[in-house]
Amino acid sequence: MGHMGISQEGDTLEPDAVEPAVKIDRARSARRIEEVLDEVSRPRYTRSPTAICRYAFTPEYTNTVGYFATALEELGYETQEDPVGNFIARNRPDGEPTYGVGSHCDSNRNGGRYDGTLGVVAALELCRLDSELNLGLPLQVVVPVEEEASGFGHAMLGSAIMAQAVEEVDLRELRAIDDGKSFWSHAEAAGFEPDRWRECRAPLEQMLGWLELHIEQGRVLQDAEVPIGIVDRIVGIVHADVTIHGSADHAGATPMGIRRDAGIEAARLALEITELARASRSGVVATVGELDLDPGLINVVPGSARLSLDVRGPDGVEVDEVLDKALANAQASAAALGMRVEHSERSRVAPTPMDGRVVDALEGAAQRLSIPHLTMRSGACHDTMHIARHVSAAMVFVPCRDGISHSPREYADPADAALGAEIMLNALLSLASSEPMNDRK
Ligand code: HGY
Ligand code: MN
Ligand code: MN
Repeated sequence: MGHMGISQEGDTLEPDAVEPAVKIDRARSARRIEEVLDEVSRPRYTRSPTAICRYAFTPEYTNTVGYFATALEELGYETQEDPVGNFIARNRPDGEPTYGVGSHCDSNRNGGRYDGTLGVVAALELCRLDSELNLGLPLQVVVPVEEEASGFGHAMLGSAIMAQAVEEVDLRELRAIDDGKSFWSHAEAAGFEPDRWRECRAPLEQMLGWLELHIEQGRVLQDAEVPIGIVDRIVGIVHADVTIHGSADHAGATPMGIRRDAGIEAARLALEITELARASRSGVVATVGELDLDPGLINVVPGSARLSLDVRGPDGVEVDEVLDKALANAQASAAALGMRVEHSERSRVAPTPMDGRVVDALEGAAQRLSIPHLTMRSGACHDTMHIARHVSAAMVFVPCRDGISHSPREYADPADAALGAEIMLNALLSLASSEPMNDRK
């Protein structure tokens, strides 16, 4: 199905025989989106005076979900939190098939206003438009917990639980960054029932399709001066920890030749993995974002070092090649100095293609609305990766200024999010009209 648009290759395709688009008051939607963003960026929704910082089982996160729950209940949605705290709001009785829209509203610990939250705000705007225009779409808003790993160090945890892509032992053993208590005990203390975590899959079983709007977190759209990206694939990701054990010797009295300096071996690994990524065929990226030296004192040779690894790419085989080679070299280098390397994986999700039918519906909607768009890959990872393993899914990107994200300097234009909501609304209408659906109310 060809669509007017700018494909990644830049060719312009012929327009299709098109059904009339539902047009919205874009300025009004942009204003409403901005109002909601202003509200959920206020102090009661963040643990930081200088950034957005909220994560599962904290009052600020509860306040944020509560805000969206109230707004959706005003539209007549039934709202609930599942046994681990994933938020779901439905405009159809439980058991009736619906289209899913949403994103996460937890944040990076030094987060911005838009990563995740803008997708929830756009989903709320879509629900408001559906109600005001009386379109009768069967909808459910899903807001998974812990996408950012800010609470328990496990990225996309809530959507992984929904997709049953974790084991119970993980939920019992995952430790909170703040106090070391388990995810399980935090969920219970917050009034949830983690022993019913297998029931978290239910919303996916009733979902006809899934759309997530998100900021791009790169510069492709800004450089192309295009307001909308349509994501047709998401790179794979591996998160891991490496601990190197050496000897915490005196910084002055220990000759260089006999040191077992864990800090130097950690630095060697960090350099090696970034060089391997740089040399990769398929555009693997590698990041060492966390580095802890023990004892971490100016006059002591680091006895141990822990570093995090974030390795991503469109080719899962090459991601593993980069990771495995870097780890093998670290083991060999450390062993030659009588040191030991431990490696543990936190999480991994394979590269994820989006559903062509949903991508087509988004492209068709953008074309009917004459909104310039670019079909593209996501270099960031999203809850949609887990959802897409069970439901036909795709994503809509909006630009964020200079690609800045995971920073309070993050900025996205609410007018672009309004365009995204309009495209998603029209895409859902065309998906709903192209398959047997329950009568719309
Ligand atoms: O890291 C990511 O890709 C996402 O922004 N949490
Ligand atoms: Mn995000
Ligand atoms: Mn993020």
